[in-house]
Amino acid sequence: MTSLAESPTVTNVADPVLAVRDIHVSNQVDGREIVRGVSFELTPGKVVGIVGESGSGKTITCRAALGILPEHFAISGGTVHILGQDIATLTPARWTALRGSSISAVFQDPASYLNPSIPVGPQIAEVIRVKKRLGRREARRRALDLLAAVHLRDPALVYTQYTFELSGGMLQRILIAAAIAADPRVLIADEATTALDVTVQAEILDLLADLRESTGLALVVVSHDLAVVAQLCDEVLVMREGEVVEQGPTSQVLYHAEHPYTRLLIGEHEQYGLDAFLDRTEPGR
Ligand SMILES: Nc1ncnc2c1ncn2[C@@H]1O[C@H](COP(=O)(O)OP(=O)(O)O)[C@@H](O)[C@H]1O
Ligand SMILES: [Mg+2]
Repeated sequence: MTSLAESPTVTNVADPVLAVRDIHVSNQVDGREIVRGVSFELTPGKVVGIVGESGSGKTITCRAALGILPEHFAISGGTVHILGQDIATLTPARWTALRGSSISAVFQDPASYLNPSIPVGPQIAEVIRVKKRLGRREARRRALDLLAAVHLRDPALVYTQYTFELSGGMLQRILIAAAIAADPRVLIADEATTALDVTVQAEILDLLADLRESTGLALVVVSHDLAVVAQLCDEVLVMREGEVVEQGPTSQVLYHAEHPYTRLLIGEHEQYGLDAFLDRTEPGR
């Protein structure tokens, strides 16, 4: 495993916006440690990927960083700093303020995060009104800008539509618009493209890359799909059963995987186009 300190991509020109250090998460009911010793650092514009099979602890790691662990789960070791603040010291009110405005997230199944009985536009406008303390008219204008920023073709129409009128890809864009509405520095995308077909998935990944480029947004991209992570990430963590079995710059993890489990993942993904990615990016090819 390559430590962060040895990684050539981490030449800190800026302070980390998110720093997760040796974090452990336990289930308080049975005392089981679900996550054991995950560390990574995000500077502005950096993208870290977390891969691993279902149940390996990817989502729990993200939820720990977001301060939204499921009931009976608690951080039992290590630290999380957001913009230099240790989250263990945050009051619930401070957390609410930080969430959305400093760190934000999109998950799988966007429809479940939206109210089906209200058009989607006003739902985004409401986030803006509360988080940015803007008036209704200004919030509406900004919501329309955001719908355009996530490459929805007719923002004014989409603004008035209900979830049932929109496709999965459109809903995921709307969720991303809501997630970036308060200009967070970090966006966690947890299996955000998993339910989408390959073309739409590629479009959403391009959108995230655009946002990183245009706003310096730092990203955590979680996927069980190594090809997704390969496309976007500077650094990759490979998780298995709550532990990081391999970590390093993406190219190193992909071309010089040391852990048999990472090799297994790479092997499994060759059929899904990771080999095409390797062809395009391997130095000297
Ligand atoms: N809400 C929950 N209640 C109880 N156990 C959970 C809950 N969420 C996750 N777990 C358990 O924590 C472990 C890690 O889950 P998770 O982080 O969701 O995995 P991944 O996102 O990698 O698929 C699994 O063993 C899972 O069963
Ligand atoms: Mg998950």
